[in-house]
Amino acid sequence: ALITLRQLLDHAAEQGYGVPAFNINNMEQGLAILEAAREMDAPVIIQASRGARSYAGDVMLQKVIEALVEMFPDIPVCLHQDHGNNVNTCLSAIQNGFSSVMMDGSLKEDAKTPADYDYNVKVTRQVTELAHMVGVSVEGELGCLGSLETGHGEAEDGHGFEGKLDKSMLLTDPDEAMRFVAETKVDALAVAIGTSHGAYKFTRKPTGEVLAMTVIEAIHQKLPNTHIVMHGSSSVPEEWQEVFNAHGGQMRETYGVPVEEIVRGIKHGVRKINIDTDLRLAATAEFRRVANTKKDEFDPRKFLKPAMDAMRKVCAERFEAFGAAGNA
Ligand code: G3H
Ligand code: 13P
Ligand code: NA
Ligand code: ZN
Repeated sequence: ALITLRQLLDHAAEQGYGVPAFNINNMEQGLAILEAAREMDAPVIIQASRGARSYAGDVMLQKVIEALVEMFPDIPVCLHQDHGNNVNTCLSAIQNGFSSVMMDGSLKEDAKTPADYDYNVKVTRQVTELAHMVGVSVEGELGCLGSLETGHGEAEDGHGFEGKLDKSMLLTDPDEAMRFVAETKVDALAVAIGTSHGAYKFTRKPTGEVLAMTVIEAIHQKLPNTHIVMHGSSSVPEEWQEVFNAHGGQMRETYGVPVEEIVRGIKHGVRKINIDTDLRLAATAEFRRVANTKKDEFDPRKFLKPAMDAMRKVCAERFEAFGAAGNA
């Protein structure tokens, strides 16, 4: 059944686990995610970006989710709008049956330019007021995703701006977080700790210098009852980079967020962990392997089935590592 982010994360907090939020664009991702959830007996967050909604179309996406809920009746599913850029995006998500929305007011409507605190509070509060009236949950974001290695907002293949940012913008301030949660009444808070979207997060295995897990600890101390969200939390597994590169791909050396760092975050209030890149990489690595090893193959299902298996395996590993397994 569809449940709200609030219901799901309250349970996760009580039981001390984290819930992966996987991005969806199509049926194959949906089946892979839900098969893994069933295998692991885990609840799940499925999230659609604005790009996903326009890729599949709102009607198609809604019907895919409806089908998944019917096919996997024992799995609690939260359907979440990822990175809503304005109030209207969030409202249209609600009209399309989403049980949770993210109002990302850390950036302006263009989803590129950093916004100031007052703008962020204003738009986020507008969304919580409307969403809560109809029983929908809201995630807000304070601080800008981006690299503490380079000081640039976002990664090269991520979204948004690429200009240099003040370090203070790349790290969420715990006191400001307290104010923000009180003023907006968000159900969950996304924080900036040096992660960015896409495959190119870190040039070496990240240390505390560039992946500020201590900021999460500080926020959790000030806001023990707030559900913390980690964006840009793909681990970019080396084994999938190897398959991708062994079959003609050209991904340069890169490191994601180590699973053990996420597990540490879960001990300090992290409840929602956003993962898109890892499923993209695993699926595309398998497309490449099939294309490279079966050169006469032209049935797309022969590409998509291994891709689904690869995504399913990644999902299952995350459910297990985050402690969500057994909690459906
Ligand atoms: O926001 C980042 C997610 O990975 C979604 O990406 O906007 O390309 O669908 P997208
Ligand atoms: P990744 O690119 O690390 O998978 O992050 C996804 C994300 O944060 C979606 O909002
Ligand atoms: Na942001
Ligand atoms: Zn994100």
